[in-house]
Amino acid sequence: MIGTRRPRDHRTRRPLDFAADLCRSGPPKHRFCVPSLHPACRISYAGPMSTAHPSLGVSRRVAELKPSVTVAFMNRAKTMKAQGLDVLSFAAGEPDFDTPQIVKDAAISALNQGMTKYMPTLGDPETRKAIADKLVRENHIATSADRIAISAGGKYSLFIACQCLFDFPAPSQAPLEALLPVPAWVSYVPMIELAGGKVVELPTDAVGDFKITPEQLRRAINPNTRLLMLNSPSNPCGTMYSPDELRALAQVVIEMSRTTAPGMVVISDELYEKITYGGIPHFSIGSIPEIAERTITVNGLSKAYAMTGWRIGYAAGVGDFGRRFIDAMGVLQGQMSTNITSFTYPAIRTALSSTANDVERMRQAFAQRAEVIFQRLQKLPGLRCPKPTGAFYAFPDVSAHFGKQSAGGHGVPGRRIASAMDFCEALLAEQHVAFVPGEDFGGCGSRCVRISFACSTDQINKGIDRLEQFLAGLR
Ligand SMILES: Cc1ncc(COP(=O)(O)O)c(C=O)c1O
Repeated sequence: MIGTRRPRDHRTRRPLDFAADLCRSGPPKHRFCVPSLHPACRISYAGPMSTAHPSLGVSRRVAELKPSVTVAFMNRAKTMKAQGLDVLSFAAGEPDFDTPQIVKDAAISALNQGMTKYMPTLGDPETRKAIADKLVRENHIATSADRIAISAGGKYSLFIACQCLFDFPAPSQAPLEALLPVPAWVSYVPMIELAGGKVVELPTDAVGDFKITPEQLRRAINPNTRLLMLNSPSNPCGTMYSPDELRALAQVVIEMSRTTAPGMVVISDELYEKITYGGIPHFSIGSIPEIAERTITVNGLSKAYAMTGWRIGYAAGVGDFGRRFIDAMGVLQGQMSTNITSFTYPAIRTALSSTANDVERMRQAFAQRAEVIFQRLQKLPGLRCPKPTGAFYAFPDVSAHFGKQSAGGHGVPGRRIASAMDFCEALLAEQHVAFVPGEDFGGCGSRCVRISFACSTDQINKGIDRLEQFLAGLR
Protein backbone atom coordinates (compact mmCIF):
# COMPACT_ATOMS: atom_id res chain seq x y z
CA MET A 1 0.00 0.00 0.00
CA ILE A 2 3.01 2.30 0.23
CA GLY A 3 2.53 5.24 -2.10
CA THR A 4 -1.09 4.40 -2.88
CA ARG A 5 -4.00 6.24 -1.43
CA ARG A 6 -6.89 4.24 -0.18
CA PRO A 7 -10.23 5.30 -1.66
CA ARG A 8 -12.04 7.41 0.93
CA ASP A 9 -15.61 6.27 1.45
CA HIS A 10 -17.90 7.12 4.33
CA ARG A 11 -16.02 4.87 6.75
CA THR A 12 -12.47 5.71 5.77
CA ARG A 13 -12.84 9.49 5.55
CA ARG A 14 -11.24 11.43 8.30
CA PRO A 15 -13.15 13.44 10.90
CA LEU A 16 -12.04 16.79 9.54
CA ASP A 17 -13.42 15.90 6.10
CA PHE A 18 -16.83 15.66 7.68
CA ALA A 19 -16.30 19.00 9.36
CA ALA A 20 -15.47 20.55 6.01
CA ASP A 21 -18.63 19.05 4.49
CA LEU A 22 -20.67 20.58 7.23
CA CYS A 23 -19.49 24.02 6.25
CA ARG A 24 -19.67 23.32 2.53
CA SER A 25 -23.34 22.53 2.90
CA GLY A 26 -24.16 26.07 4.03
CA PRO A 27 -22.57 29.19 5.41
CA PRO A 28 -19.42 28.44 7.40
CA LYS A 29 -20.65 27.31 10.77
CA HIS A 30 -18.45 24.54 12.02
CA ARG A 31 -15.83 25.89 14.38
CA PHE A 32 -13.17 23.49 13.27
CA CYS A 33 -13.68 23.33 9.52
CA VAL A 34 -10.67 22.83 7.29
CA PRO A 35 -10.14 26.08 5.42
CA SER A 36 -8.03 24.45 2.72
CA LEU A 37 -11.03 22.28 1.79
CA HIS A 38 -13.62 24.97 2.07
CA PRO A 39 -12.94 28.26 0.32
CA ALA A 40 -15.50 30.19 2.37
CA CYS A 41 -13.61 29.31 5.49
CA ARG A 42 -10.26 30.31 4.05
CA ILE A 43 -10.83 33.88 5.11
CA SER A 44 -11.08 32.65 8.66
CA TYR A 45 -7.40 31.86 8.90
CA ALA A 46 -6.02 33.75 11.83
CA GLY A 47 -4.22 36.20 9.71
CA PRO A 48 -2.63 38.20 8.51
CA MET A 49 0.10 37.28 10.96
CA SER A 50 2.86 38.69 8.82
CA THR A 51 2.79 41.98 6.99
CA ALA A 52 5.28 40.62 4.47
CA HIS A 53 3.24 37.44 3.86
CA PRO A 54 -0.45 38.19 4.51
CA SER A 55 -1.50 34.61 3.67
CA LEU A 56 0.51 33.13 6.51
CA GLY A 57 -1.67 32.20 9.45
CA VAL A 58 -2.47 29.43 11.89
CA SER A 59 -5.36 27.01 11.71
CA ARG A 60 -8.81 28.28 12.63
CA ARG A 61 -9.32 25.68 15.27
CA VAL A 62 -6.18 26.78 17.07
CA ALA A 63 -6.73 30.47 16.40
CA GLU A 64 -10.17 30.18 17.99
CA LEU A 65 -8.85 28.55 21.15
CA LYS A 66 -9.01 30.80 24.15
CA PRO A 67 -5.81 31.10 26.17
CA SER A 68 -6.29 29.95 29.76
CA VAL A 69 -7.56 32.73 32.01
CA THR A 70 -5.85 31.04 34.98
CA VAL A 71 -2.48 31.25 33.28
CA ALA A 72 -3.19 34.84 32.22
CA PHE A 73 -3.81 36.02 35.80
CA MET A 74 -0.92 33.94 37.14
CA ASN A 75 1.43 35.53 34.61
CA ARG A 76 0.19 39.03 35.32
CA ALA A 77 0.79 38.51 39.03
CA LYS A 78 4.31 37.23 38.25
CA THR A 79 5.05 40.20 36.00
CA MET A 80 3.90 42.65 38.68
CA LYS A 81 6.03 40.83 41.27
CA ALA A 82 9.03 41.04 38.95
CA GLN A 83 8.45 44.81 38.84
CA GLY A 84 8.96 44.84 42.60
CA LEU A 85 5.28 45.08 43.61
CA ASP A 86 4.05 43.21 46.68
CA VAL A 87 1.53 41.02 44.86
CA LEU A 88 -0.25 38.14 46.59
CA SER A 89 -1.16 35.50 44.05
CA PHE A 90 -3.97 33.01 44.59
CA ALA A 91 -4.15 32.10 40.91
CA ALA A 92 -1.92 29.05 40.46
CA GLY A 93 -3.47 25.61 40.57
CA GLU A 94 -0.41 23.91 42.00
CA PRO A 95 0.78 22.91 45.47
CA ASP A 96 3.36 25.26 46.97
CA PHE A 97 5.26 22.26 48.43
CA ASP A 98 8.38 20.70 46.94
CA THR A 99 8.35 17.16 45.54
CA PRO A 100 9.33 14.68 48.30
CA GLN A 101 13.11 14.13 48.27
CA ILE A 102 12.80 10.36 47.99
CA VAL A 103 10.94 10.79 44.68
CA LYS A 104 13.59 13.15 43.34
CA ASP A 105 16.32 10.71 44.40
CA ALA A 106 14.65 7.87 42.48
CA ALA A 107 14.69 9.93 39.27
CA ILE A 108 18.28 11.12 39.83
CA SER A 109 19.44 7.58 40.40
CA ALA A 110 17.63 6.32 37.26
CA LEU A 111 19.18 9.13 35.26
CA ASN A 112 22.65 8.31 36.58
CA GLN A 113 22.11 4.67 35.69
CA GLY A 114 21.50 5.65 32.08
CA MET A 115 17.73 5.27 31.90
CA THR A 116 17.64 7.75 29.08
CA LYS A 117 16.27 5.85 26.09
CA TYR A 118 12.86 5.39 24.49
CA MET A 119 10.56 3.14 26.48
CA PRO A 120 7.28 1.39 25.61
CA THR A 121 4.73 4.06 24.62
CA LEU A 122 2.28 3.57 27.47
CA GLY A 123 4.95 3.03 30.12
CA ASP A 124 7.25 0.27 31.31
CA PRO A 125 5.38 -2.84 32.53
CA GLU A 126 6.61 -2.44 36.12
CA THR A 127 5.24 1.06 36.47
CA ARG A 128 1.96 0.27 34.70
CA LYS A 129 1.61 -2.59 37.18
CA ALA A 130 2.39 -0.33 40.15
CA ILE A 131 -0.37 2.07 39.04
CA ALA A 132 -2.83 -0.78 38.42
CA ASP A 133 -2.05 -2.21 41.87
CA LYS A 134 -2.65 1.20 43.46
CA LEU A 135 -6.03 1.50 41.70
CA VAL A 136 -7.06 -2.02 42.75
CA ARG A 137 -5.85 -1.58 46.33
CA GLU A 138 -6.95 1.99 47.07
CA ASN A 139 -9.75 2.66 44.61
CA HIS A 140 -11.21 -0.84 44.17
CA ILE A 141 -11.11 -0.50 40.39
CA ALA A 142 -10.74 -3.89 38.69
CA THR A 143 -8.02 -2.79 36.31
CA SER A 144 -4.67 -4.34 35.37
CA ALA A 145 -1.29 -3.26 34.00
CA ASP A 146 -2.36 -3.69 30.35
CA ARG A 147 -5.24 -1.29 30.95
CA ILE A 148 -3.06 1.61 32.15
CA ALA A 149 -1.84 4.42 29.88
CA ILE A 150 0.85 6.68 31.34
CA SER A 151 1.00 10.10 29.69
CA ALA A 152 2.67 13.48 30.11
CA GLY A 153 0.21 14.77 32.70
CA GLY A 154 -3.44 14.19 33.51
CA LYS A 155 -4.24 16.90 30.98
CA TYR A 156 -2.61 14.89 28.23
CA SER A 157 -4.44 11.73 29.34
CA LEU A 158 -7.76 13.59 29.19
CA PHE A 159 -6.93 15.13 25.83
CA ILE A 160 -6.14 11.85 24.13
CA ALA A 161 -9.05 10.11 25.84
CA CYS A 162 -11.36 12.70 24.23
CA GLN A 163 -9.69 12.12 20.87
CA CYS A 164 -10.46 8.43 21.27
CA LEU A 165 -14.11 9.09 22.16
CA PHE A 166 -15.33 11.60 19.59
CA ASP A 167 -15.41 12.12 15.84
CA PHE A 168 -16.54 15.11 13.86
CA PRO A 169 -20.08 14.43 12.68
CA ALA A 170 -21.01 13.57 9.10
CA PRO A 171 -23.19 16.25 7.42
CA SER A 172 -26.43 14.50 8.25
CA GLN A 173 -25.38 13.48 11.75
CA ALA A 174 -25.84 15.25 15.05
CA PRO A 175 -22.59 15.61 16.97
CA LEU A 176 -21.90 13.31 19.89
CA GLU A 177 -22.43 15.07 23.19
CA ALA A 178 -20.36 15.42 26.33
CA LEU A 179 -22.28 16.19 29.50
CA LEU A 180 -20.24 18.58 31.58
CA PRO A 181 -21.28 19.68 35.06
CA VAL A 182 -20.37 23.37 35.31
CA PRO A 183 -18.52 25.30 36.65
CA ALA A 184 -15.74 23.01 35.43
CA TRP A 185 -11.99 23.09 34.85
CA VAL A 186 -11.27 25.30 31.82
CA SER A 187 -9.56 22.69 29.67
CA TYR A 188 -12.48 20.26 29.31
CA VAL A 189 -14.38 22.34 26.74
CA PRO A 190 -11.50 22.82 24.27
CA MET A 191 -10.47 19.19 24.65
CA ILE A 192 -13.97 17.96 23.80
CA GLU A 193 -14.55 20.44 20.99
CA LEU A 194 -11.16 19.82 19.38
CA ALA A 195 -12.11 16.15 19.26
CA GLY A 196 -15.43 16.92 17.50
CA GLY A 197 -17.75 16.58 20.50
CA LYS A 198 -20.46 19.00 21.53
CA VAL A 199 -20.41 20.21 25.13
CA VAL A 200 -23.73 20.16 26.95
CA GLU A 201 -23.43 22.04 30.21
CA LEU A 202 -25.20 20.75 33.31
CA PRO A 203 -25.54 23.82 35.52
CA THR A 204 -24.95 23.69 39.25
CA ASP A 205 -24.90 26.39 41.93
CA ALA A 206 -23.23 27.34 45.19
CA VAL A 207 -26.34 26.43 47.19
CA GLY A 208 -26.11 22.85 45.93
CA ASP A 209 -22.33 22.72 46.53
CA PHE A 210 -21.86 22.86 42.73
CA LYS A 211 -23.08 19.28 42.25
CA ILE A 212 -25.47 17.84 39.67
CA THR A 213 -28.43 15.72 40.71
CA PRO A 214 -29.39 12.28 39.34
CA GLU A 215 -32.62 13.75 37.90
CA GLN A 216 -30.69 16.44 36.10
CA LEU A 217 -28.38 13.83 34.62
CA ARG A 218 -31.27 11.61 33.57
CA ARG A 219 -32.96 14.49 31.76
CA ALA A 220 -29.76 15.33 29.85
CA ILE A 221 -28.93 11.85 28.56
CA ASN A 222 -30.10 11.18 25.01
CA PRO A 223 -29.04 8.84 22.16
CA ASN A 224 -26.20 11.20 21.22
CA THR A 225 -24.69 11.21 24.68
CA ARG A 226 -21.17 9.87 24.50
CA LEU A 227 -19.53 11.18 27.66
CA LEU A 228 -20.21 12.25 31.20
CA MET A 229 -17.20 14.14 32.55
CA LEU A 230 -16.93 14.00 36.31
CA ASN A 231 -14.34 15.74 38.46
CA SER A 232 -14.41 15.12 42.19
CA PRO A 233 -12.90 16.84 44.16
CA SER A 234 -13.52 19.70 41.79
CA ASN A 235 -11.39 22.41 40.30
CA PRO A 236 -12.62 25.19 40.51
CA CYS A 237 -15.41 24.51 43.03
CA GLY A 238 -13.43 22.89 45.87
CA THR A 239 -16.35 20.59 46.62
CA MET A 240 -16.79 16.86 46.09
CA TYR A 241 -19.45 14.20 45.67
CA SER A 242 -20.08 11.74 48.48
CA PRO A 243 -19.90 8.00 47.68
CA ASP A 244 -23.71 7.83 47.82
CA GLU A 245 -24.10 10.76 45.45
CA LEU A 246 -21.74 9.09 42.98
CA ARG A 247 -23.59 5.79 43.34
CA ALA A 248 -26.84 7.60 42.52
CA LEU A 249 -25.30 9.17 39.40
CA ALA A 250 -23.86 5.79 38.41
CA GLN A 251 -27.31 4.23 38.73
CA VAL A 252 -28.66 6.71 36.19
CA VAL A 253 -25.81 5.94 33.78
CA ILE A 254 -26.39 2.21 34.22
CA GLU A 255 -30.12 2.53 33.47
CA MET A 256 -29.83 5.00 30.61
CA SER A 257 -27.00 3.12 28.93
CA ARG A 258 -29.25 0.05 28.78
CA THR A 259 -31.93 1.95 26.91
CA THR A 260 -31.05 5.37 25.56
CA ALA A 261 -27.28 5.82 25.35
CA PRO A 262 -25.54 2.46 24.93
CA GLY A 263 -22.23 4.06 23.88
CA MET A 264 -22.01 6.31 26.90
CA VAL A 265 -18.69 6.52 28.75
CA VAL A 266 -17.79 8.22 32.03
CA ILE A 267 -14.45 9.92 32.50
CA SER A 268 -13.69 10.33 36.17
CA ASP A 269 -10.99 12.95 36.69
CA GLU A 270 -9.57 12.17 40.12
CA LEU A 271 -6.50 14.42 40.12
CA TYR A 272 -7.36 15.80 43.57
CA GLU A 273 -8.16 12.42 45.07
CA LYS A 274 -5.67 12.72 47.95
CA ILE A 275 -6.53 16.30 48.89
CA THR A 276 -9.72 15.83 50.91
CA TYR A 277 -10.52 17.23 54.36
CA GLY A 278 -14.26 17.76 54.67
CA GLY A 279 -15.07 14.36 56.12
CA ILE A 280 -16.24 13.05 52.73
CA PRO A 281 -14.15 10.04 51.66
CA HIS A 282 -12.94 10.00 48.08
CA PHE A 283 -14.80 7.43 46.01
CA SER A 284 -14.02 6.17 42.50
CA ILE A 285 -17.13 5.70 40.39
CA GLY A 286 -15.15 3.16 38.33
CA SER A 287 -15.23 0.80 41.32
CA ILE A 288 -18.93 0.13 40.79
CA PRO A 289 -18.97 -3.15 38.85
CA GLU A 290 -22.00 -2.32 36.63
CA ILE A 291 -20.38 0.87 35.37
CA ALA A 292 -16.69 -0.10 35.58
CA GLU A 293 -16.20 -1.09 31.94
CA ARG A 294 -17.62 2.19 30.64
CA THR A 295 -15.51 4.29 33.04
CA ILE A 296 -12.07 5.67 32.29
CA THR A 297 -10.40 6.87 35.48
CA VAL A 298 -7.83 9.63 35.05
CA ASN A 299 -5.35 10.61 37.71
CA GLY A 300 -1.77 11.83 37.99
CA LEU A 301 1.02 12.78 40.32
CA SER A 302 0.81 16.58 39.97
CA LYS A 303 -1.38 17.51 42.91
CA ALA A 304 -1.06 14.77 45.55
CA TYR A 305 2.73 14.51 45.34
CA ALA A 306 3.55 18.14 44.47
CA MET A 307 4.86 17.10 41.06
CA THR A 308 3.18 19.49 38.62
CA GLY A 309 6.38 20.10 36.66
CA TRP A 310 7.15 16.43 36.19
CA ARG A 311 4.17 15.95 33.86
CA ILE A 312 2.94 12.53 34.88
CA GLY A 313 -0.65 11.40 34.43
CA TYR A 314 -2.43 8.18 33.72
CA ALA A 315 -5.71 6.71 32.51
CA ALA A 316 -7.13 3.36 33.55
CA GLY A 317 -9.77 1.15 31.96
CA VAL A 318 -11.58 -2.03 32.94
CA GLY A 319 -12.67 -5.10 30.98
CA ASP A 320 -12.54 -5.62 27.21
CA PHE A 321 -13.53 -2.08 26.36
CA GLY A 322 -11.02 -0.72 28.88
CA ARG A 323 -8.18 -2.65 27.27
CA ARG A 324 -9.14 -1.67 23.73
CA PHE A 325 -9.60 1.94 24.73
CA ILE A 326 -6.21 2.13 26.44
CA ASP A 327 -4.63 0.43 23.39
CA ALA A 328 -6.22 3.11 21.20
CA MET A 329 -4.80 5.83 23.45
CA GLY A 330 -1.43 4.13 22.98
CA VAL A 331 -1.72 4.24 19.20
CA LEU A 332 -2.49 7.96 19.36
CA GLN A 333 0.22 8.72 21.90
CA GLY A 334 2.65 6.72 19.77
CA GLN A 335 2.07 9.28 17.00
CA MET A 336 2.37 12.22 19.36
CA SER A 337 4.96 11.93 22.09
CA THR A 338 5.75 8.22 22.62
CA ASN A 339 6.60 7.50 26.26
CA ILE A 340 6.96 10.06 29.04
CA THR A 341 10.46 10.96 30.26
CA SER A 342 12.05 7.54 30.87
CA PHE A 343 13.91 8.24 34.10
CA THR A 344 10.71 9.30 35.85
CA TYR A 345 9.27 5.77 35.92
CA PRO A 346 11.13 4.72 39.10
CA ALA A 347 10.06 8.04 40.64
CA ILE A 348 6.41 7.20 39.92
CA ARG A 349 6.76 3.87 41.69
CA THR A 350 8.49 5.55 44.63
CA ALA A 351 5.80 8.23 44.88
CA LEU A 352 3.04 5.61 44.89
CA SER A 353 4.73 3.32 47.40
CA SER A 354 6.83 5.42 49.78
CA THR A 355 5.43 8.90 50.33
CA ALA A 356 2.34 8.35 52.48
CA ASN A 357 3.74 10.60 55.24
CA ASP A 358 4.49 13.44 52.84
CA VAL A 359 1.08 13.18 51.20
CA GLU A 360 -0.57 13.27 54.62
CA ARG A 361 1.54 16.24 55.75
CA MET A 362 0.47 18.21 52.67
CA ARG A 363 -3.17 17.13 53.06
CA GLN A 364 -3.19 18.39 56.65
CA ALA A 365 -1.74 21.72 55.58
CA PHE A 366 -4.44 22.10 52.92
CA ALA A 367 -7.08 21.15 55.48
CA GLN A 368 -5.87 23.86 57.85
CA ARG A 369 -5.74 26.47 55.09
CA ALA A 370 -9.23 25.51 53.91
CA GLU A 371 -10.53 26.13 57.41
CA VAL A 372 -8.76 29.50 57.69
CA ILE A 373 -9.97 30.80 54.35
CA PHE A 374 -13.51 29.53 54.78
CA GLN A 375 -13.88 31.11 58.23
CA ARG A 376 -12.59 34.42 56.92
CA LEU A 377 -14.64 34.43 53.70
CA GLN A 378 -17.81 33.70 55.63
CA LYS A 379 -17.43 36.94 57.56
CA LEU A 380 -17.09 39.11 54.46
CA PRO A 381 -20.17 40.95 53.20
CA GLY A 382 -21.90 39.76 50.04
CA LEU A 383 -19.85 36.58 49.48
CA ARG A 384 -21.46 33.15 49.30
CA CYS A 385 -19.06 30.22 49.40
CA PRO A 386 -19.72 26.54 50.05
CA LYS A 387 -17.26 25.02 52.49
CA PRO A 388 -14.28 23.58 50.57
CA THR A 389 -14.09 19.81 51.11
CA GLY A 390 -11.42 18.84 48.58
CA ALA A 391 -8.70 20.18 46.24
CA PHE A 392 -7.33 23.59 47.24
CA TYR A 393 -9.84 26.08 45.93
CA ALA A 394 -12.50 28.33 47.38
CA PHE A 395 -15.04 29.54 44.82
CA PRO A 396 -17.13 32.32 46.34
CA ASP A 397 -20.04 33.92 44.51
CA VAL A 398 -19.26 37.65 44.48
CA SER A 399 -22.18 38.76 42.31
CA ALA A 400 -23.80 40.70 45.18
CA HIS A 401 -21.14 43.33 44.45
CA PHE A 402 -21.85 43.65 40.73
CA GLY A 403 -23.05 47.13 39.82
CA LYS A 404 -20.83 48.82 42.44
CA GLN A 405 -17.84 51.11 41.99
CA SER A 406 -14.42 50.25 43.43
CA ALA A 407 -12.47 52.82 45.44
CA GLY A 408 -9.19 52.64 43.47
CA GLY A 409 -5.75 52.20 44.98
CA HIS A 410 -2.00 52.17 44.22
CA GLY A 411 -2.59 55.14 41.92
CA VAL A 412 -5.20 53.26 39.90
CA PRO A 413 -8.66 54.87 39.66
CA GLY A 414 -11.74 52.93 40.77
CA ARG A 415 -13.93 51.18 38.23
CA ARG A 416 -17.42 49.79 37.83
CA ILE A 417 -17.67 46.12 38.76
CA ALA A 418 -20.05 44.43 36.36
CA SER A 419 -18.57 40.93 36.25
CA ALA A 420 -16.21 38.49 37.96
CA MET A 421 -13.56 39.61 35.45
CA ASP A 422 -14.01 43.28 36.51
CA PHE A 423 -13.84 42.19 40.15
CA CYS A 424 -10.53 40.36 39.62
CA GLU A 425 -9.07 43.11 37.43
CA ALA A 426 -9.86 45.75 40.04
CA LEU A 427 -8.64 43.63 42.95
CA LEU A 428 -5.34 42.98 41.19
CA ALA A 429 -4.79 46.58 40.14
CA GLU A 430 -5.98 48.25 43.35
CA GLN A 431 -5.01 45.76 46.07
CA HIS A 432 -2.37 43.61 44.32
CA VAL A 433 -4.26 40.39 44.97
CA ALA A 434 -4.64 37.88 42.12
CA PHE A 435 -7.75 35.66 42.02
CA VAL A 436 -9.05 33.97 38.86
CA PRO A 437 -12.36 35.25 37.43
CA GLY A 438 -14.91 32.46 37.07
CA GLU A 439 -16.39 33.22 33.63
CA ASP A 440 -14.36 30.60 31.77
CA PHE A 441 -15.36 27.82 34.15
CA GLY A 442 -18.90 28.01 32.73
CA GLY A 443 -22.37 28.15 34.25
CA CYS A 444 -22.70 30.19 37.42
CA GLY A 445 -18.90 30.57 37.40
CA SER A 446 -19.49 34.00 35.86
CA ARG A 447 -20.66 35.12 39.30
CA CYS A 448 -17.67 33.60 41.14
CA VAL A 449 -13.94 34.00 41.63
CA ARG A 450 -11.50 31.15 42.19
CA ILE A 451 -9.10 31.47 45.09
CA SER A 452 -6.32 28.87 45.17
CA PHE A 453 -5.13 28.43 48.74
CA ALA A 454 -2.00 26.51 47.82
CA CYS A 455 0.00 29.03 49.83
CA SER A 456 0.85 29.79 53.47
CA THR A 457 -1.84 30.73 56.01
CA ASP A 458 0.09 33.95 56.46
CA GLN A 459 -0.45 34.79 52.79
CA ILE A 460 -4.10 33.73 53.04
CA ASN A 461 -4.67 36.10 55.96
CA LYS A 462 -2.87 38.99 54.25
CA GLY A 463 -4.79 38.40 51.01
CA ILE A 464 -8.15 38.27 52.74
CA ASP A 465 -7.27 41.45 54.69
CA ARG A 466 -6.75 43.17 51.36
CA LEU A 467 -9.95 41.67 49.94
CA GLU A 468 -11.81 42.97 52.99
CA GLN A 469 -10.40 46.44 52.38
CA PHE A 470 -11.39 46.21 48.71
CA LEU A 471 -14.96 45.20 49.59
CA ALA A 472 -15.20 47.97 52.17
CA GLY A 473 -14.35 50.50 49.44
CA LEU A 474 -17.07 49.35 47.06
CA ARG A 475 -19.89 51.90 46.62
C1 LIG B 1 -9.41 19.12 37.37
C2 LIG B 1 -8.06 18.94 36.76
N1 LIG B 1 -7.84 17.88 35.97
C3 LIG B 1 -6.66 17.67 35.39
C4 LIG B 1 -5.62 18.54 35.59
C5 LIG B 1 -4.31 18.24 34.89
O1 LIG B 1 -3.24 18.15 35.74
P1 LIG B 1 -1.82 17.62 35.21
O2 LIG B 1 -1.83 17.74 33.73
O3 LIG B 1 -0.82 18.48 35.86
O4 LIG B 1 -1.73 16.19 35.65
C6 LIG B 1 -5.79 19.68 36.37
C7 LIG B 1 -4.71 20.67 36.53
O5 LIG B 1 -4.87 21.76 37.00
C8 LIG B 1 -7.05 19.88 36.99
O6 LIG B 1 -7.27 20.94 37.77
